[in-house]
Amino acid sequence: MTIPLRIGLAGLGTVGAGVAKILANQADVIGKRAGGSVVVTAVCARSKSKDRGVDLSAFEWFDDPVALATSDAIDVFVELVGGSEGPANDAVTAALKAGKHVVTANKALVALHGATLAPLAEQAGVALNYEAAVAGGIPVIKAIREGLAGNEISRVSGILNGTCNYILTEMEATGRAFDDVLADAQKLGYAEADPSFDVGGIDAAHKLAILASLAFGVTLDFDGLYVEGIEAISAADIDFAKELGYKIRLLGIAARHGAGIEQRVHPVLVPVTSPLAAVTSVVNAVAIEGSAVGSVVLEGPGAGEGPTASAVVGDIIDIARGLVVAPFGILSKDLQPSVTTPIAERVGSYYLRINATDRAGSMAEITKALAEASVSIERIIQSSEPVDAGRLPVVIITHDTQEKAIENALRLLNEHDDVLDQPMMIRVERD
Ligand code: NDP
Ligand code: HSE
Repeated sequence: MTIPLRIGLAGLGTVGAGVAKILANQADVIGKRAGGSVVVTAVCARSKSKDRGVDLSAFEWFDDPVALATSDAIDVFVELVGGSEGPANDAVTAALKAGKHVVTANKALVALHGATLAPLAEQAGVALNYEAAVAGGIPVIKAIREGLAGNEISRVSGILNGTCNYILTEMEATGRAFDDVLADAQKLGYAEADPSFDVGGIDAAHKLAILASLAFGVTLDFDGLYVEGIEAISAADIDFAKELGYKIRLLGIAARHGAGIEQRVHPVLVPVTSPLAAVTSVVNAVAIEGSAVGSVVLEGPGAGEGPTASAVVGDIIDIARGLVVAPFGILSKDLQPSVTTPIAERVGSYYLRINATDRAGSMAEITKALAEASVSIERIIQSSEPVDAGRLPVVIITHDTQEKAIENALRLLNEHDDVLDQPMMIRVERD
């Protein structure tokens, strides 16, 4: 490896400024661990005059990420601009074609264009490292790709979006409104430039697609993934879940079933006694089931300046040490096509909240509709507090049933005069 290793940093926002700070403040120890000094030589952002809380005056300034990516002044291009299209994709592609190592935190880019970018890195014999793209400061990519490489992995699941976990657990703890808590997450630097990617489940889906490809040796299948966000979760759902002994979390689940792979992101009810119920704030947790190791659970901060920059710097040090592995653990040409199983095949328990007319017999009509769809009830509660005049919430936890049966039950309920709004359905995960 060239010494010093020269870094070009594109993007000087939450993560980029964090990386510049670590490389400046920890230069001695990083140099020792890397086997030689690691220095930023050039940077790029939109605004040259913005104060980033770190001295950038010694670095060459670029307005254009692609020009930086191909500059002779750098050995490693670090992409922290964001977005799956435009400058991030153009610059990473240009860097790999120019034979530069690349480090990125951009899950959207890796999930949507990893299939094109990884072969470019493999052909050039350079690294395409993206540890920070999944679960922030948790080294889950290295855990699956390196530490657990001797295992056949059957399941990867967990809390993959810090913003959603922060929102859900703040609402749970303080009763604050969704929009208020989201605004906090944005101020803290947790949320994506477009926060609908967080609350809509898309960011977690980008991460799950990456984890599934690494864990199961299959091609990325972001488009085949089932995705639901947390936008429809209300304070009432959080309260009812609590009354029933559950908490609400946004989970990503990828599991192998024969030839198919289940890949889904959606809110779930988890028992209040489960380890995931104890994961609060911006913390992420990922559970990996391996054939030899058994169950491994990794937990830590999933977003924000320090944790994300920590992962980026770890990737840079790997390059300085001369560690270059195929981006998805095996060569792109050896990845198998992904066969994603439809969500309708899920079997499990469901939470239903139905706002019904406040009249004798409406409960009987609801249970009749469920019986017609062959959905069996495990628990049922009727609130004595109407949502508003004439609307009473009925909350049900079902026994295990096929998702198809729940879809049928929801259709029957929707047709019913006693059901006043679209019923709320949240899947229950007890494992
Ligand atoms: P920010 O919005 O804070 O920073 C983006 C940076 O990119 C800014 O410095 C901006 O410049 C620069 N930029 C944007 N467009 C251009 C352009 N066309 N040309 C040059 N520079 C440009 O984002 P984050 O730091 O939060 O995120 C960066 C990446 O890291 C994203 O891919 C994100 O998904 C990922 N990530 C973020 C985490 C987090 O907790 N924030 C965690 C894990 C991953 P300027 O400052 O001048 O506007
Ligand atoms: N917006 C992302 C999150 C950043 O909240 O998890 C970390 O990937």
